[in-house]
Amino acid sequence: MNIDEVQLITFSPTCTSKQVGEAIVHGTGISSVSKVDLTLEAAGKRGGPSHVLAVITVPVYGGHVAPFALERMRELHTDGAPAVVVVYGNRAYEKALVELDAFVTNLGFKVIAGATFVGEHSYSSEKYPVASGRPDADDLEYAKLFGEKIRAKIAAAEDVEKLYGVDVAHIQRPRQPFFPLLRFLRRVVKLRKSGVLMPRTPEVNTERCTHCGYCVKYCPAGAIIKGEECNTVAEKCIKCCACVKSCPQKARAYDTPFAVLLSDCFKKQKEDRIIL
Ligand SMILES: Cc1cc2nc3c(=O)[nH]c(=O)nc-3n(C[C@H](O)[C@H](O)[C@H](O)COP(=O)(O)O)c2cc1C
Ligand code: SF4
Ligand code: SF4
Repeated sequence: MNIDEVQLITFSPTCTSKQVGEAIVHGTGISSVSKVDLTLEAAGKRGGPSHVLAVITVPVYGGHVAPFALERMRELHTDGAPAVVVVYGNRAYEKALVELDAFVTNLGFKVIAGATFVGEHSYSSEKYPVASGRPDADDLEYAKLFGEKIRAKIAAAEDVEKLYGVDVAHIQRPRQPFFPLLRFLRRVVKLRKSGVLMPRTPEVNTERCTHCGYCVKYCPAGAIIKGEECNTVAEKCIKCCACVKSCPQKARAYDTPFAVLLSDCFKKQKEDRIIL
């Protein structure tokens, strides 16, 4: 069968999931591409016909799919065949891929491919790098190859009914060295016992802020108000760090003790994985 249109559906505050999605779409070789960017708004009530391939890429938050991503996809309905991809910050994606699969299956999709890719951790900084610079050229090349494989799988099927689904639970997990993981778990317990709290929002260096408004524009949660860029509405902030990474003055920083542990315990770069 032939699919001549691809739809990229993504939620991506710091653009790593988006980059992976774009490379997959590029790899399919399909020139008619539409984009549904859930980062700043919900998809709304829209359907995808079965002849359109959907590529869905979202980040992992706390071992789950970022809740905003699911919330903003809720009204999609389709009988199409998508590839589902989670992008995580080199620690672990835990249940996220299986969760995303179940969610989109419930919306009417038949999942035909899945993948887990590594992206620079949202909390990564110069001082405490975590998977800094990923997805790198190799990741994007692999994402492109994944796109090629999806296209080949579709081409080999006679029609949508014959296009077989995939059980993403069987995807190979990345290698995780045991001792750094143990060290991480011990230090998390110690951190929690110490009563040190995670900051609820990024901090702002008021002397650096020029009130350019970029952070307002890129905040997916509406947690920064125009004209009051040096304050953040803690109740709305999802700690995605889009404002930190988009600020041209480097006026915003999310300094969490958690980043110190991540940087120290997850130095070994994990591999991307795919299943079709
Ligand atoms: C609140 C929050 C929780 C996160 N939890 C995890 C996690 O459990 N495991 C992990 O490996 N990375 C975690 N990350 C890192 C992101 O999954 C990673 O940086 C991803 O590439 C961000 O995607 P984006 O660039 O599309 O926003 C977390 C990031 C944030 C902001
Ligand atoms: S992006 Fe940076 S400089 Fe611009 S308003 Fe926001 S905090 Fe200020
Ligand atoms: S204010 Fe919070 S939710 Fe908004 S971009 Fe910054 S970290 Fe993300």
